[in-house]
Amino acid sequence: MSIEQKIVQLKFESYSNETELNQLDFNLLAKAKEAVQKAYAPYSNFHVGAAVLLENGTIIQGNNQENAAYPSGLCAERVAMYYAGANYPNQKIKAIAITCHSENETIDKPISPCGSCRQAMAEYETRHQQPIKVIMSGEVGEILISESIQNLLPLMFTKEDLK
Ligand code: THU
Repeated sequence: MSIEQKIVQLKFESYSNETELNQLDFNLLAKAKEAVQKAYAPYSNFHVGAAVLLENGTIIQGNNQENAAYPSGLCAERVAMYYAGANYPNQKIKAIAITCHSENETIDKPISPCGSCRQAMAEYETRHQQPIKVIMSGEVGEILISESIQNLLPLMFTKEDLK
């Protein structure tokens, strides 16, 4: 596939708050909000929650797990996705909702996954040949939805590049 063919039209949907979401997305975000409560973030004070929806309807929750040796910690998204991959290897990931809570200020814009988490999402999307919907939310206000990781990681490196 040429570089030109790989470039996609970026496409996001924006909602002014969670009440505008459909029931499925609303419920998944509620699970991510629940997960925020159990985050372990004593160093950044920035609590992140993620909820992964599998094809069979199972929802996996994850949150950031920090460490005194900072790089040893892991983001909420990867905690949830890797649990899903480890325990439900054959279940496609349909969607992931992400939200946060800061001890310092109210986050009023959608949190967007870090580069490493995007790469991990790209791996599952490629592995299962199915787009993963990403629902991004702050504590209040706008919610952003991408229907695929393609929007978040254009020109992604995948197993196709290893051939
Ligand atoms: N973090 C996540 O869990 N997910 C993200 O998408 C961005 C950042 C975590 C990592 C760290 O524990 C804290 O937030 C501050 O960067």
